[in-house]
Amino acid sequence: MEQRIEAAISAAIRLGQGRGPVPAQLASALDYAVTPGGARIRPTILTSVAMACGDDAPEVTDAAAAALELIHCASLVHDDMPCFDDADTRRGKPSVHRAYSEPLALLTGDSLIVLAFELLGHVASKQPMRSAQLVITLAQRTGMPGGICAGQGWESEDKIDLDAYHHAKTGALFIAATQMGAIASGQDAEPWEELGARIGQSFQIADDLRDALYDEAALGKPAGQDDLHGRPNAVSQWGVKGAIEKLDDTLAGAIASIPHCRGEAQLAEMVRRYAERLTPLYAAARTAAE
Ligand code: IPE
Ligand code: IPE
Ligand code: MG
Ligand code: MG
Repeated sequence: MEQRIEAAISAAIRLGQGRGPVPAQLASALDYAVTPGGARIRPTILTSVAMACGDDAPEVTDAAAAALELIHCASLVHDDMPCFDDADTRRGKPSVHRAYSEPLALLTGDSLIVLAFELLGHVASKQPMRSAQLVITLAQRTGMPGGICAGQGWESEDKIDLDAYHHAKTGALFIAATQMGAIASGQDAEPWEELGARIGQSFQIADDLRDALYDEAALGKPAGQDDLHGRPNAVSQWGVKGAIEKLDDTLAGAIASIPHCRGEAQLAEMVRRYAERLTPLYAAARTAAE
């Protein structure tokens, strides 16, 4: 599956880079922002759900997976810029505005967002209904009122609603992952919202714990950012112990919420594997709570 996802993402970047006379630095920055990737967790979830639902149009699944990862990478490029988190590193290397420039980082994010929707448009020739549903779902989870833009928008408010903030900032793309996987395989998206929301919530709690407990060398991006920027987060809200308990509950709920489908057992296994990857985090949290 990993190779399949990487191939779809590389093809998308090549499309964005084009041929002939193009601004070379921007073309290079598109690739820099997306490869090498991080955990690729969103396209992995999307593809896993599509496969659990039959994956009868793999080219649609691949376009959806690549589109989702491009939106995620774009959100990181913009998030790192000085007007947001002002982060110098991402995935263990200089962030895009540090490696290139601020104008190029802004344009890289913009170009990746537009490219994501272009990919979904291209599958309309074979699967027009799925293409339209994918565009709408991804748009809703990217912009306002329920997507990443809304999530980042909360940071400009005096009072932040932590649940709404996390749900939009991080949960949205996980809901997109499960729902787009179902849509790519011709299934109804609605029953898949809860699974995405729960995985997203567990992911954000884990990310907040890492931000509080790990250092930059371990994270590949600056640590202690939530405190530094005064952002509400799972650790400030519930403490390390409380956050861990919440994480356990959320993961158990995620497995329980998997809709009936052919690949139900494999999906439960995927969530369990994801939970196992959090084991070092539990150990670090126990040490910190003592
Ligand atoms: C980081 O996401 C941003 C958050 C939503 C917390 P990931 O941890 O999935 O980033 P990569 O893609 O693996 O680097
Ligand atoms: C990033 O959130 C999520 C986006 C919507 C881009 P954070 O700012 O909390 O994540 P990191 O710590 O930079 O990855
Ligand atoms: Mg941020
Ligand atoms: Mg950030």
